[in-house]
Order: sequence, then C-alpha cells, then structure tokens
Amino acid sequence: MKRFALKGTICYSASLQELKVLEQGYLLCEDGVSRGVVEKLPGDWADCEVRDYGNRLIIPGMSDLHMHAPQYTFRGTGMDLELLDWLNQETFPEEARYGDLDYADRAYTIFAENMKRGATTRACIFGTLHREATELLMEKLEQTGIRAMVGKVNMDRNSPDILRERDAKESAEDTKVWLREVAEKRASGQWTHVEPILTPRFIPSCTDELMRELKRIQTEYRLPVQSHLSENFGEIGWVKELCPDSKFYGDAYDQFGLFGGDGCPTVMAHCVHSGEEEQQLMKERGVWVAHCPQSNTNLSSGIAPIREYLDKGLKVGLGSDVAGGSTESIFRAITDAIQVSKLRWRLVDETRKPLTFAEGFYLATKGGGSFFGKVGSFEEGYELDAVVLDDSSFKSPRPLTPEQRLERICYLTDGISQIAAKYVAGENVQL
Ligand code: GUN
Ligand code: FE
Repeated sequence: MKRFALKGTICYSASLQELKVLEQGYLLCEDGVSRGVVEKLPGDWADCEVRDYGNRLIIPGMSDLHMHAPQYTFRGTGMDLELLDWLNQETFPEEARYGDLDYADRAYTIFAENMKRGATTRACIFGTLHREATELLMEKLEQTGIRAMVGKVNMDRNSPDILRERDAKESAEDTKVWLREVAEKRASGQWTHVEPILTPRFIPSCTDELMRELKRIQTEYRLPVQSHLSENFGEIGWVKELCPDSKFYGDAYDQFGLFGGDGCPTVMAHCVHSGEEEQQLMKERGVWVAHCPQSNTNLSSGIAPIREYLDKGLKVGLGSDVAGGSTESIFRAITDAIQVSKLRWRLVDETRKPLTFAEGFYLATKGGGSFFGKVGSFEEGYELDAVVLDDSSFKSPRPLTPEQRLERICYLTDGISQIAAKYVAGENVQL
C-alpha cells in the first residue's frame, strides 16, 4: 500500500454549486486514490510522507473532453471562417500532412510537451485518419503521464482525396489493425496511460456503411465513442440532406447505435444548436456534452445553452477543441464558458442564469472528469489527479481568499506558468 499526503490550500468541487476550500489541509492519497481532505493527519497516517506545498493551491486535474492533436500546429491562425469553410481550407490540408511520419513526429512532440506542462490530466483526443501517426501520438502521450483516450479518425466521404479513406471497408480494416496494435501495447504493459476511443469524425464524413462497420467494431472492442454534434447551422442542414430519415442530427448517430446507451459511453462536442428532442435523447442515452466555448466563438458557431443542459440533468464537461479553440488551457475554457453564458443570458434568454465561477470550475474538473470514472474531485474514492498552482507572480497589495486566488489564476494564467506540480492517479508527473 502506497500512501502520501499533499499539504497546501486545497480547493475542489463537491457539487455543481459547492466549491470546498481548506487552507493548510492535507489531501490523503492511497494507491492512487483520494482518501479525502482533512485538517489534521489521522493517527494511522502519522508516518506517511507529507509533500508540503506551503501557501500554494492544490486543485483537481482538469479534463479536456474534446481536442484535435494534429490541429495544434495551426492554433491561433485562420480564425476568420465558419466551420465548413474552415475544415476545407485550414483543417483538412493540415491533417493530410500527417501521412508523413517525420512531420507527425515533429508536430506531436511539440503537442505532447505542452500537454505535459499544462493542468490537463485527462483528455479525449482526435488524431487523424492515419493509423501510424495516431500510434505515434499515443506513444508520445503515454510518455507525458496524462491519461488520454485517443482516436484514429474515420472519414470516407466529403473530403479531398488527400484526406479520405477509400471506402468503408478500408476504413474499418485499418481501424481494426490499429486496435489490435494498441491492444498488444496495452497487454504487454508498454502503454498504461493511453486508450483507444472510436472516432467517426462527424456524420458528413462517414457513409452509412462505415457507420455500420464502426458499430460492429464498437461492440466487439467495447469502445467509447467521440464525435461532433450540432455545431453549426450549415453543418446541421447538410446532415438533414445526407440523412433524410433522421429526425434530428443526434438521431443520425443513434440509428447506428453510436449515441450513448449501455456499453457505449459517448461524448459529443459542441451541441450548440441541439433542440428539445436531441437533448431528450442525450439525457436518455447518458451522452456527455463537451462544451467548447472558445471554438464556438472563433468559428462563429453560437453559444451552447449550457444552463439549460445543466437544469435538465445532462452530463457536461469542457473541451478546448484545439484548433477551433486556440489554446489547450482548460483554465481559459472555464472563463470562456462563463463569459459566453453571460452574453447568452443578456442577449438570448434572460430566464437562464449565467454560469458562476464555481460552476465553471466544476465543469472543468468533476463534470468532465466523470467521463473517465471517479475523476475530478478530491472526495474519498476519487482517482487522485491533482495540480499544484503557484500564483506568487500575481502580486496583490492585500490578502486574497483562496476562492479569489483560484478565480484570478483562471482568468490570468497562460495555462502553464502557474503549474508547480501535477499528479495523475497518484503518480507525480515530471513537468
Ligand atoms: N466537425 C468535424 N470536424 C471538425 C473539426 O475538426 N473541428 C470542429 N470544431 N468541428 C468539426
Ligand atoms: Fe472538434
């Protein structure tokens, strides 16, 4: 049994509204799992190692429920387009480069290095359709110590020849080879941090035949699923044309059994324009919403009705959606989520209150963390993902409360400079 305690100013969410704070508290860790937060070490913990972080803040690691690793190269550029033009002009040409393993190596080295240094401890990540490059991405992420679900993307229609699989058969076969190779790496113990997730890019990219193949693969390998949903009006209209029998966009996934439900945990990015019926089905099927506020702003997609989703009991976490979002910082996703919710409240629907800071923090930690199991809080029994924050460079002429310090870090940090230490499932990750 391996035990240690982290000491410092501890902040974590117990529920959507309740942010718990304990100054100079102890966070107890046993075999990678939290044994709770206490004011004094219990008697049987008296001899355990205490890692004292002084006045620093200790918070749960953050979950990024949606990002595209290959798009990291062009983050912060090409932001003057809407989704479908942006995909064709910026995204697809860049993703096509990952057929070249040297390029993939250089790009993913930079990506993994920055992920290692940030506050994200769990992530759902899209690769490209290239199997070898996706395995390289997984190898690099494995070295960072963070836990990632990574997808080889499936796409067999409606993209240029340079970024399209020949047909459904080829896409499915390549996916099975990838899954077998990943299974070998995991069985041999080479990979313990990265896992596969099934990744149909979105309905416009996948033929019906491919979706049927993917369902077979999903069932056989018991895979979780990630994709995109109801992000942009042009996209939604196109799905209606491509799938005239679907009642709404989510139904087009559901018809193939790739929309949550038993044995098929599913996370859908965006859900900016999901109507009543789609919301109802997401609730019934337990589909997670990956709310990506910065991407939805950059690509002029709109403002997702997150308060409505929370009121209705949908599962919600945050996503950076790099490179629709320009930064992988989930601190920034928190403040963006709060800010766009204020605009939505003022301009669209005054009956639904904006998100508070405590709620934004919850979404980044316990909300999104739930996709990975008992993750994202320090309550007893949660896997111990923790980030130690040093805000001493943000000078203040008067003392601030821990809550104020935490909020200010979220608004001011670049996502990396304040990170003093990071733990993933109890493992101290080298930054
Ligand atoms: N829909 C399909 N592909 C993508 C993508 O790469 N980014 C975003 N934001 N939406 C998508
Ligand atoms: Fe995306």
